[in-house]
Amino acid sequence: MAPMKVAETRNLKKTYHFGDTEVSALREISIEIAEREFIAVWGPSGSGKSTLCNLIGLLDSPTSGEVLIAGNPAADLTDAKRSDLRNASIGFVFQNFNLVPVLSALENVMLPLQIAGVSKTEAARRASALLDEVELSERKGHRPQKLSGGQQQRVAIARALVTDPALVIADEPTANLDTHNANLIIDLMRRINGERGAAFLFSTHDDRLLDRVDRRIHLCDGAIIEDERL
Ligand SMILES: Nc1ncnc2c1ncn2[C@@H]1O[C@H](COP(=O)(O)OP(=O)(O)O)[C@@H](O)[C@H]1O
Ligand SMILES: [Mg+2]
Repeated sequence: MAPMKVAETRNLKKTYHFGDTEVSALREISIEIAEREFIAVWGPSGSGKSTLCNLIGLLDSPTSGEVLIAGNPAADLTDAKRSDLRNASIGFVFQNFNLVPVLSALENVMLPLQIAGVSKTEAARRASALLDEVELSERKGHRPQKLSGGQQQRVAIARALVTDPALVIADEPTANLDTHNANLIIDLMRRINGERGAAFLFSTHDDRLLDRVDRRIHLCDGAIIEDERL
């Protein structure tokens, strides 16, 4: 049996307008993401990486074309159902972490579970276990500003994983990190990909990371110029 598709795009297009000018951020992107894949989307600044992450992550809507998550066409859903699907199926790691400053590391990781209706006790138990897994056992009570960039990124990854999503999307997860921390983050994502089986799609313009992936999607001016399985 063919592996299940966790996500798929069909002829995905995104055009931004500024007054009279149009910017084609994405042109007719069609890709399939199977279970357990570990994929980098790479290309220069402005090539459309963030736009693609946001569209597959259901954070934004395409100008035309479709996004399907686990076979469900996202455009057919009401906003509420789309949020439910995003919450249940996708973990998103933002480039600048996007942690809630007034919450502790533990409370940040508990948040997606509480939104999904999980009890506080159970949410705390699962969030705590995940913070152990990302080696932040000693930092659970700290607010984001008391953590280093690498530690904040690990909290963000724990938050993305806590609902056990089939797909984790990370927009330049190592862009703000030094080489040591960048490698720790990639090690962590690879380990979780192996152990939990979540598929990963992350954008990067860091060549060093490209040696560590199974598939590379090369974007240039909003189009795929190469989709390479290694
Ligand atoms: N919110 C926006 N409004 C207008 N133009 C945008 C917006 N977001 C991105 N763009 C434009 O779309 C193109 C792709 O941007 P982006 O997806 O951010 O690329 P990357 O993440 O590869 O740097 C760029 O030309 C960028 O200027
Ligand atoms: Mg970007």
